[in-house]
Amino acid sequence: MADLTTELAGVRLPNPVMTASGCAAAGQELGQFFDVTELGAIVTKSIMRFPRSGRPTPRMVETPSGMLNSIGLQGPGIDSFLARDLPWLVQRGARPFVSIAGSTVDEFVELTRRVVNSPGVSALEVNISCPNVENRGLVFACDPMQAARVIEAVRPHVPEGLPMFAKLTPDVTSIVDVARAVADAGADGATMINTLLGMAIDPDTLRPILGGVTGGLSGPAIRPVAVRAVYQVHAALPEFPVIGVGGIRTGADALEFVAAGATAVQVGTVIFNDPSAPMRVVRELDSELDRLGIASVEKARGCAHGGV
Ligand code: DOR
Repeated sequence: MADLTTELAGVRLPNPVMTASGCAAAGQELGQFFDVTELGAIVTKSIMRFPRSGRPTPRMVETPSGMLNSIGLQGPGIDSFLARDLPWLVQRGARPFVSIAGSTVDEFVELTRRVVNSPGVSALEVNISCPNVENRGLVFACDPMQAARVIEAVRPHVPEGLPMFAKLTPDVTSIVDVARAVADAGADGATMINTLLGMAIDPDTLRPILGGVTGGLSGPAIRPVAVRAVYQVHAALPEFPVIGVGGIRTGADALEFVAAGATAVQVGTVIFNDPSAPMRVVRELDSELDRLGIASVEKARGCAHGGV
């Protein structure tokens, strides 16, 4: 048995594997498949200030190279989330990483204040990279200065000891520049990557399949993009914790991200076919480390950069 315990921006986790935001609302659905306390953390679907119905349907399409979604941040809004969803996770003893999404900087601040005042939250994930918003200008993470503006505004409201991660998009010229900007603005780490902007056209009607026209591509197709992003950011900012996400289906996939420099990993799209996949990834990560004779996940971190 390898040592999977992980220290992520000051928070101790039993293992580095968590759910990715959006693959289960706030974790209740997953409770029937595994014990939510056994994962490193449960990341909740990005929550907004008000209830939101999302983009026009259809909002999901399988392509031969991955899943496209244009959900558009559908959700119950912060009031209902705090009253109903978060307590479910907290009462069970899970470690909730609460993901928030605002359409203005002020909304991010307000959401942050509400979330950090709720007992039992383990971390905050600031989603500045949803591709499915009406106006691309609202994808704050597309621009280092806009990304920094959100993080700087939120920072003073996040108490000491509660880590704050910025979720970044791969749809940029340099993800390193954005990571550096959010690190300088006070983020404790970055989650990378959100989905990659894409679209699909129906072969018979020759019209876009998704009601929202474009969507975010996820699944194995984006894994090499995500691994590259994690590798580049770890090379540039070795002390800045990174949570790797993008197409992880197995323990070997998770270890690839750790080798690139990730401190923790998130499992997303595979959950739709195999809801207990995150727990399987924990077990497989353990066997992979054993197979390679590496005593702990910490020892494997960053080894693609040389050393070990
Ligand atoms: O691909 C995504 N879809 N990324 C997000 O950040 C949010 C989500 C949605 O709700 O559209």
